[in-house]
Amino acid sequence: MKADGIERAVAFTQYPQYSCSTTGSSMNELYRQLQELDPQRKIKWSVIDRWFTHNGLVQAFVNRIEAGLEQYPAETRDKVIILFSAHSLPMEIVNRGDAYPSEVAATVEAVMKKLNHRNPYRLVWQSQVGPKPWLGPKTDKAILSLGEKGHNDQLLVPIAFTSDHIETLFELDLEYGEEALKAGITGLKRAESLNAHPVFIQAMADIVKTHLDETAPAGSSPISKHFAVRCPGCTNDTCKDTREYFKQ
Ligand code: FES
Repeated sequence: MKADGIERAVAFTQYPQYSCSTTGSSMNELYRQLQELDPQRKIKWSVIDRWFTHNGLVQAFVNRIEAGLEQYPAETRDKVIILFSAHSLPMEIVNRGDAYPSEVAATVEAVMKKLNHRNPYRLVWQSQVGPKPWLGPKTDKAILSLGEKGHNDQLLVPIAFTSDHIETLFELDLEYGEEALKAGITGLKRAESLNAHPVFIQAMADIVKTHLDETAPAGSSPISKHFAVRCPGCTNDTCKDTREYFKQ
């Protein structure tokens, strides 16, 4: 970018909901790299750190869910349980005061509001690894337990991933799908990921345009007021330095 003479850049996280384990650590790494790669700060940066209730994002989820529900017969469609599934977090990060759980829940609520709360739903968490405690309930366990309680029709919605990858294509579709079938749950389906949904692409364009307009006036802040505040339990000095760097 420096070789191309770029003078202005936007760090636009592709995680709609902010977590210090995703966007935060990426920003810390960008800060570390910039110290070495651009010590004179030739490139002026600003940051889009979260966009979890953007109207276009929410509408794109609604469209995918409506298409997902179409897979069920009209007479039982409203009874399908919508299972919003997001990547889990270790409880030590949650207890530090990470914003992610509440922001994921806010996306869920915005989506359900647009759907007029027409279906029952739950927010569940996937991809836990290792022996330490993680945020639950676990997606796979929730599928099986709901099945045992007589809820055969469940629509999985990846709510914190915007495009397909191993967690959607392998974990949700193959792993959890097979477990469900083995348990006799025949009505588990998944809403398509946002991927290149035109409403979603338009939303991202709108987010960037709004950000550029808001950060254009002299004296405007290059970072959001939310990003400026660290987790209550943060003891990592790099988080502090990163915020100081991008604030200037
Ligand atoms: Fe969240 Fe440092 S861990 S700001």
